[in-house]
Amino acid sequence: MNDFLAPERVPDPCVLVIFGASGDLTRRKLLPAVWHLSRQGRLPDAFALVGVARTQMSTEEFRRRLRESLNEFVQLGEADAQRVDDFLERVDYVSGDPADDETYDQLRKKLSSIDERLGTSSNRCYYCSVPPQVFLDIVRQLGNTGLAAEDDGWVRIIVEKPFGHDLESARSLNRSLHLVFREHQIFRIDHYLGKETVQNILVFRLANSMFEPLWNRRYVDHVQITAAESVGVEHRAGYYDTSGALRDMIQNHLMQVMCVVAMEPPSTFDAESVRVEKLKVLKAVRPFSVGKVDQIAVRAQYEDGEDADGKPCPGYLQEEDVPAGSRTETFAAVEFTIDNWRWQGVPFYVRTGKRMARRTSTITLQFKQPPHLIFSGGDNLRPSTLTIRIQPEEGISLAFSGKRPGPDVQLDTVDMDFCYADHFGGRSPEAYETLILDCLIGDGTLFASSDWIEKSWGLLMPILEAWSAASATQMPSYPAGSWGPTEARALFDRDWRSWEEAVAE
Ligand code: BG6
Repeated sequence: MNDFLAPERVPDPCVLVIFGASGDLTRRKLLPAVWHLSRQGRLPDAFALVGVARTQMSTEEFRRRLRESLNEFVQLGEADAQRVDDFLERVDYVSGDPADDETYDQLRKKLSSIDERLGTSSNRCYYCSVPPQVFLDIVRQLGNTGLAAEDDGWVRIIVEKPFGHDLESARSLNRSLHLVFREHQIFRIDHYLGKETVQNILVFRLANSMFEPLWNRRYVDHVQITAAESVGVEHRAGYYDTSGALRDMIQNHLMQVMCVVAMEPPSTFDAESVRVEKLKVLKAVRPFSVGKVDQIAVRAQYEDGEDADGKPCPGYLQEEDVPAGSRTETFAAVEFTIDNWRWQGVPFYVRTGKRMARRTSTITLQFKQPPHLIFSGGDNLRPSTLTIRIQPEEGISLAFSGKRPGPDVQLDTVDMDFCYADHFGGRSPEAYETLILDCLIGDGTLFASSDWIEKSWGLLMPILEAWSAASATQMPSYPAGSWGPTEARALFDRDWRSWEEAVAE
């Protein structure tokens, strides 16, 4: 099996405690991630996993459920049977309400006995896979009961999104966390940063000397970042309807990706240097004003339509648990302007939507046209583009002009393509695998800092305010299975710009 993780990175002996252990995220993502780490020998010999949840069940029952989840979500080989048994031996369970003292008494006893039995040296990582209201109870209780104290070993906490609903709530969450934990102990997960393709952006830019010289206003006309999903809201309307596309995808995942594309090269590849550079990008983003939001942002909701296979799809308002008359956007597009020397005059267009024609997440740098074209018939020449495919078909392609074979000089656009699967084969680690391992090692490079989170919310507040004030007006719509509302085209104020064709094919 190909293995892309650096071999020397193995965490200290430790216990991973998952709050919300009976939930869907644990079954689908966290458990498979921890299993793969264990399977590849990336976990220390002294490692244990403790699940905490309200559901009353024994450790045996919890292990039985985890075994079922592994069978469902992981491709197990015949040789894995004994390994699964050994892995589950390291698993324990505590049932209890996250607000009750009793839960933490039990947890403390469990952790002490694991320390004695396995030698996990009081090193703990708490993973909060719970809704934000519950998360505050956990932080408070870990503080009150001394379980957050770093007396004998290290203590870290992983926090899931959504991190806040607006600037005020994000600040308040940060304040509550900082009462108990110091910033270097807090790991705010953004699973996009754990994706191989997103991590590769920096390698691509900074481990080659040929692209970085082009990475600026002199050569780049504009940048497009797209995260299109073919699925609708699925069974998550309870959460999604209070969020919408701007909060759900742009405030976190896509603004993080924008920062990785736009940041200056840090002097070293470590958490602090990378975070400083990403924050500088947000500080350079030109603030929006509530009165001009229509010029830089578009939102819309999907109506009924058909998916790529011609199967009918309901509109957002007909989906399970969506409140009647909801005005939540399922599509959002924003034009960001970055006021610094590198990017002055190069717009960053960011869009995301559910129930779009196809699942695809891409970053495209469109280059400027040559200053003077000496070949005739080149008026419709497509500009050169560099496209990073985040998912699926992970890879990078460069589209440029070439001469068609023949006696006349006829130009055509040709592609050079790098595809991860073809080149590397094997299985790339899932984002959660990389992120959990990084946290157990104490490497915060791929996590969001408190000031980045507050800055990103701060930038989006005028859009949120304008949209909430405009709630009485008509919400633009787009048919399910399409590329979004026609209104999104209005963001381009230059004739030659349009949403990337390759994405829409
Ligand atoms: C989550 C959002 O953070 O990211 C979901 O809450 C979205 O609404 C998901 O579907 C997309 O993640 P991915 O990895 O499938 O692009």
